[in-house]
Amino acid sequence: MEDKIIVGLDIGTTKICAIVGKKNEYGKLEILGMGKAVSDGVIRGIVTNIDKTVRAIEKAIAEASEQSGIDIGVVNVGIAGQHIKSAVHHGGITRENKDGEITIEDLARLNSDMHRIVTPPGSEIIHVMPQDYIVDYEDGIMDPVGMTGVKLEADFHIITAQTNAINNINKCVKKAGLQIENLILEPLASSLSVLSDEEKEAGVCLVDIGGGTTDVAVFYENIIRHTAVIPFGGNIITSDIKQGCMVMEHQAELLKTKFGKAISEEASPNEIVSIPGLRNRPPKEISIKNLAHIIEARMEEIIELVHTEIISSGFNKKLAAGIVVTGGGSMLTNLSQLFEYMTGLDTRIGYPNEHLGRSKVDAAKSPMFATTVGLVLSGFKALDIRQARYSEAPSYKGDGKKKLKQGNKFFSNILEKTKGLLIDDFDDKIN
Ligand SMILES: Nc1ncnc2c1ncn2[C@@H]1O[C@H](COP(=O)(O)OP(=O)(O)OP(=O)(O)O)[C@@H](O)[C@H]1O
Ligand SMILES: [Mg+2]
Repeated sequence: MEDKIIVGLDIGTTKICAIVGKKNEYGKLEILGMGKAVSDGVIRGIVTNIDKTVRAIEKAIAEASEQSGIDIGVVNVGIAGQHIKSAVHHGGITRENKDGEITIEDLARLNSDMHRIVTPPGSEIIHVMPQDYIVDYEDGIMDPVGMTGVKLEADFHIITAQTNAINNINKCVKKAGLQIENLILEPLASSLSVLSDEEKEAGVCLVDIGGGTTDVAVFYENIIRHTAVIPFGGNIITSDIKQGCMVMEHQAELLKTKFGKAISEEASPNEIVSIPGLRNRPPKEISIKNLAHIIEARMEEIIELVHTEIISSGFNKKLAAGIVVTGGGSMLTNLSQLFEYMTGLDTRIGYPNEHLGRSKVDAAKSPMFATTVGLVLSGFKALDIRQARYSEAPSYKGDGKKKLKQGNKFFSNILEKTKGLLIDDFDDKIN
């Protein structure tokens, strides 16, 4: 595992970013290289222009490859967009060997059964994540491996995406000369890089405010409980400023990132910024207070949508660790206060440094790169699961009780580590 190198590729609305990483001897992620390109073929998280996206992927990958000295062939890619749907489904199997202990293979069978549920036309399953298990009608079981029982059931958080959107991502990656190792829902990736294990245990809502979308993921008792993608992000604030202040788009973006505030009360009424006028026109004077009013109005709307998602998850009153906001949009001044004020939940800004060791690439510590860092981490997590399946699985095949028990413990440890995010083998589906 120490020598394994994994690449994350985030195809975002404003930027495409690739990060190359490996695990150091303490199990922390060391970033070896990073590449970025402006993204102009993606709208609200969905690829709309293949050629532009391919060019941006190639640029980001070439940069990351050069900085890391690694030849990149395989990537872990994120998926987002409003087409993503999540729902809870119940599933169960009846075990034939009723006296034997429940094994990881029983869980895998139950899991793969869930892949067969019927999804709406034009959509397919991207993640199947077990919540708590029920063994012979006894519910609330987190880890059934090693228990005895005939009927094994569970509730599953199932995430589906539009086949078209998946195909377009696949096409772009292939055209850029790469192969997809795993396809991961972006908020799940971000959650891996910015949330601590304690937060996920206590109950927390991750909010990733990107350019085109705001992604939401609710965790409680270490299990993902709700996911949603809201089709607005920082870009809509920029276009509000463009219209409201009658300035050019790049000026609006600068006004937002340099002088913007999420709470208008915090802006002084006397502060003015002067913007150069167009061709012989006098400079334009923009009031910082007015700017903050525009930003606040739209941000309130986004936060209200996030709050509605949290309430509909049913975990509003259970989120002891509150909200963690990440993504480029989280860098807005006073944003965490506005979140706290509107939701009543304790809020912090999430930087993707939760599992980061010392790296020569510092830029990855910005909330903008939470998804990309998370994609690398989820690649390592998927590898953990695969190695567990392939290297230890034979010990189940009748080698005696002792080995079986060891195997169980090994698997249940892996399962414990990964039950919040079970990554499916996507290789077969997308190749
Ligand atoms: N200092 C800042 N203050 C406010 N907003 C900022 C700041 N820096 C960047 N942003 C905004 O962050 C957004 C880009 O964030 P990010 O890079 O996370 O998006 P993305 O991953 O490309 O998009 P998406 O996740 O929606 O597909 C832009 O709207 C940008 O204006
Ligand atoms: Mg993003």
